[in-house]
This record gives sequence, C-alpha cells and structure tokens, in this order.
Amino acid sequence: MLNPKTMKETPANTIAIVHRIARDYLGTQKVTLAIAIFFMIVTALTTGALAKLLGPAFNLLLPSPAGSPVTATPAIWILPLEVCGVLWLRALSYFIQQSRVDALGERVVTAAQHDMFDSLVRRDLAQLNALHSGSFVSNFLYDATLMRDAIAKGVAAVWLESITLIALVAAMAYADWKLTLICMIALPGVAWAMERIGSSIRRATKRNMDETGSLSTAIVEALEGRRVIKAYGLEAYTSQITNNRLQLRLKQLVKLAKRRASTVPVTDIFMGIVVGAVIWYAGRQIAHHHLKPGDFAVFMGALLLAQQPVRNLSQLWPVASSGLTAAARVFAMIDAKPHIVDASDAETLTVHHAPAGGGVTFNNVSFTYSADASAPAVRGVDLDVKPGSKVALVGPSGSGKTTIFNLLLRFYDIDEGSIAIDGHDIRQVTLESLRRNIALVTQDPILFDESVATNIALGRPGASRADIEQAAHDAAAHEFIAALPEGYDTRVGEGGLKLSGGQRQRIAIARAMLRNAPILLLDEATSALDTESERQVQEALTRLMKDRTTIVIAHRLSTVADADRLYVLDQGHVVEAGTHGELMAKGGLYARLYHHNETTESPAAGLVQA
Ligand SMILES: Nc1ncnc2c1ncn2[C@@H]1O[C@H](COP(=O)(O)OP(=O)(O)OP(=O)(O)O)[C@@H](O)[C@H]1O
Ligand SMILES: [Mg+2]
Repeated sequence: MLNPKTMKETPANTIAIVHRIARDYLGTQKVTLAIAIFFMIVTALTTGALAKLLGPAFNLLLPSPAGSPVTATPAIWILPLEVCGVLWLRALSYFIQQSRVDALGERVVTAAQHDMFDSLVRRDLAQLNALHSGSFVSNFLYDATLMRDAIAKGVAAVWLESITLIALVAAMAYADWKLTLICMIALPGVAWAMERIGSSIRRATKRNMDETGSLSTAIVEALEGRRVIKAYGLEAYTSQITNNRLQLRLKQLVKLAKRRASTVPVTDIFMGIVVGAVIWYAGRQIAHHHLKPGDFAVFMGALLLAQQPVRNLSQLWPVASSGLTAAARVFAMIDAKPHIVDASDAETLTVHHAPAGGGVTFNNVSFTYSADASAPAVRGVDLDVKPGSKVALVGPSGSGKTTIFNLLLRFYDIDEGSIAIDGHDIRQVTLESLRRNIALVTQDPILFDESVATNIALGRPGASRADIEQAAHDAAAHEFIAALPEGYDTRVGEGGLKLSGGQRQRIAIARAMLRNAPILLLDEATSALDTESERQVQEALTRLMKDRTTIVIAHRLSTVADADRLYVLDQGHVVEAGTHGELMAKGGLYARLYHHNETTESPAAGLVQA
C-alpha cells in the first residue's frame, strides 16, 4: 500500500525507527510478545477451520441423495461439537492475544514516557526555556498513544490478520480457486482507497496535534496567570480565547472522525462488488453442476469471515504511519542531549568550608544569551570573592546580576574569560560536584506540591527528620511549620501557594541550610517582604552565611551595606567595586542608588530605569 507520495511523509528512516522500537521497547517484553503471537496464530487458524467446517455443516442440511435420514449419520453429533469447540478455542485465544498485545502496548507507552521525561529534566536551562510547555505535554501524552496503537496494530496485522486472511484464502481456494481469483481483483482497489484515506488522516492528525498543543498551552497559561486574570477581570476574555482554540480543534476532530469512519464503509463497497460477482458466477457454476453447494458455503463463509481481517489490515497503514511519525518525534525528544556536559577529563570538585576554601574568581568573563541578543548580558567582568567573605552584586534591573549566578552554576557556558572556584576552572570539574558545592536561594522560592519536610529535604535527599527540623530551626521556620495543620507533613499546595511569601522563603533557606554547601548564592532573597518577615529572614540568612562564601544580589541596599565588597553592575559591566564606605565616598552610581533607596524604600532597579 505504499506509494511514493506518502513515502515522503513518513520518516525516511522507517526501518531504523521500527528497529529501534523493537530493540528498546519490545526486546524487554519477549515473553508477552511470544504469548501474544502464539495465540494470534491459534486465533487465525481456528478462524480458517471454522470456515472449513461450514462445508460439512451445509451438506448435512441438504437432503441426502440416498434419501436416508440425516440424523442417522454420526456427523449430526460430531459436527456441532466440533463447531462449538473451535469457536470456544477461538474465543479463548482471541481474548489472550488481545489482552497481551494491549498490555504490551501500554508498557511500551509507559517506558517511552519515562525515557522522554528523563531526557527532559536533564536538558540545559536554555533548552528548557525554549520548550513550549503545552506542546510538550500534549506530545508527551499523545505521541506515546499513537505509538502504542501502531505497535498493537502492527503486531496484530502481521501475526493475526495476515495469517487469518491466508487461512481463509486457503479455505476459499480449496473450495474453488477460480472464485478465489475473482475476489483478488478487488484487492488493489481496496488498497488504493485505504491509501488515499490514510494519507489524509495523517495530515489531519498532524494539524490536530498542533491545535492540541496550543490548547494545552492556553490552559496552562490561564492557570499560571490566575492571579492576573482575576485582578484584571480577564475571565471572559480568557474563556473566549480558549473557546476559539477549542472550536478550531473541533473542526479538525470532526474532519478526522469522518475520515476514520469512512474506512469501513469503503471496504464494504468493494466487498459488495466482490460478493455480487461471486454469487453471480457461483450461481452459474452450480446450475451447470461445476460447483457443489457445500463448497460454495465454505467459500461464502470464508469470504464473509475475511471481511474483518481485510478491514483491520486496511486500517493498518494510517495507524502505522501516524504511529511511526509519532515515534520519530518521541525518539527525537529522548535523544535531545544537553550541550553543557562534563569535560571528558572532568574532576570532582571538593570545596572546603571557609576559611579553608570557597573562593570564587571571574576573570574577564563575557556572555551573550543568544545570537539575536542586541548586547552581551555581561562583558569583561572580573570578580574576586575571598573564601568566607560576603560579596554583594548591585545594579539596575537587567544589569547582569542574575546572569552572573547562572554562569557560576554553569547553567550557561561563558563565551570568553574564565570562572574558577578555589583555582579550579568550573568547566574542568563535573557539573554534579560543582552544583553540590553551591546552594542557591532564588528570588521566588520554588516549592513543590509535597510536604514541608520533603520540600526542605530536597536540599539533601535522604536527610533525616532530625536534620530537617534542625535546618528549619536555623531558618527561623520551625515555629510556623509546627503551627501548620499537619506540621512538617503538611502539603504546601501547588507552587507552595498555601504559604506566605516569607514562609516560602524561610523554607527555601532551610533547604539551603540542609544542603550545607560552602558557597551560597542569594538572589534578592529579601525583596517583597514586610519588616517583621524580613527581620526573621535576615536572621536566618546571617546564620546560613556563617562559615560560607556568600554572593548576594540585593535590591534593598541597606541589607548589604555590611558586605566585605560590593560590585556595582551596569549594562553587564562592573562599573564600581569596593566597600560601602568607599563607594559612598566616591559618589558614583552606588551612592546615587543608595540615596534613592534610602528615600523611597523601593527597589533600586525601578528608580534607575525611570
Ligand atoms: N534567559 C534569557 N535569555 C535571553 N536573555 C536574557 C535571559 N535572561 C536574562 N537575559 C537578558 O540579560 C540581561 C541581564 O539579565 P539579568 O537577569 O542578569 O539582569 P538582573 O541584573 O538580574 O536584573 P533584575 O535586577 O531585574 O533581576 C538582560 O538584558 C536580560 O534581558
Ligand atoms: Mg535578577
């Protein structure tokens, strides 16, 4: 059923894909596969046998030539038992093969989804940022299902439908080979029609996938933006946008349903021609005594039984080709590799707590996020952070502060210069050991919808309950956690929404405490808090910074006035550096930022931009 036009639409490496499915996903299921195939063969053969039994059954019904009563022959007892036995065997083997092959399909889906997700979480930050989350989710769920259907249908096509068809054709040919040849003339027609329908199904499936992707994105965005939607009264607007997407998708789905529904009647149109031709020809043959009525019964029985395998085989191509296209996408997702990886000779980085270790140096570092960015995010940055010191990065919004953290954690690789920890270039150590030695507390602490204890334990998987509680104590979080309905076992809600901003931040600090890394990165950890929360968080941070090298990004300059050294960034450049006193005396950008800060108590960023 292949033609050059549709060959183009399927991946060029169809064989490679089939081979990979077999190797990666069927290889582990040999037993299930063997059972399914065995019972498929049994089902096929019993179907053939059933057709064959119709001959003797039909002959029984005819008046016997000798005029003896039919009830006198032993066949009247044996035949019904045989028919019943064959039908039961067919029913049993059909059940076993169907349930086995479906289970096999589901296991393949699950294994493929596991591999997809595993590859997803290992990707670089840049790759993840570029990902369309809605499309990913719909591909994740939908492609795997398409793959499953193709596998189940493909295995069944080869082992069940083909063998059934062969057995039935054999029964037909045994009854009358000329009639059998007449039937074959319809096959190319069926194949052609199915091919046409199949390729249009594939195109519709592809469009439907795109629509489903944008629909999932719309839903995810609506949920994530719920506060804005409420605050700005955008419910009707959002609902309308989603409804437009739904309507577009509905159109595609209806088209698709029509095409799918047309496969069976189209097969039947051809079957009608075949059955008509057969009856016409057989009638003449019987009239001329060239064909026995019993043989004709076998023939017709086999022909009618053959409808099912022909239908199923005709549906195989559309299903298999969209399954293969889906499999190609699934494998592309699985094969996407992160660009930031360990060097081949990477060593394990061990950083001692201050004062023995934890020094960070940036030497003439430049970095641009993407080729189409108008300017580098940081340019020629030099930083020297002594072990155990507290260094602050300040500067207007967009000046490159967070970027410096991203580079130190090697979320991105720098374009020029070098970054070192205790003299080890960070590109020469393993990513795992680099990140293990750094604790990051972000501006917007990320909590997962798990218990408080689990969220803290993310800092050091496997930490004991006592360690977790100690960390919470140190982070000034124990009191409020103990007051929660289920204490440490309270689930925090999606994104930690059941907690206040300050509470979330203290949990994030407890997590960092538990991590006990010698280098600490704080990104605007105290913004957006009221005075009391801020005092508690500050106290917790002071404890956290003890014996550690700390780099802190702060918008409230009063919280970093005690830093050992401040770097003032502007448009990716370090424009000033020194202690608070030195910078104030200099009367430059820092002094201006500080004065604005003092008088307005609002983040420096907004002021400088205004
Ligand atoms: N993921 C990204 N992709 C592309 N450009 C980015 C990305 N993140 C930041 N930038 C750009 O890099 C520059 C520096 O951004 P950065 O986040 O480091 O600023 P910042 O000093 O932390 O600002 P803020 O005080 O507002 O947090 C900005 O011009 C920003 O637009
Ligand atoms: Mg930032």
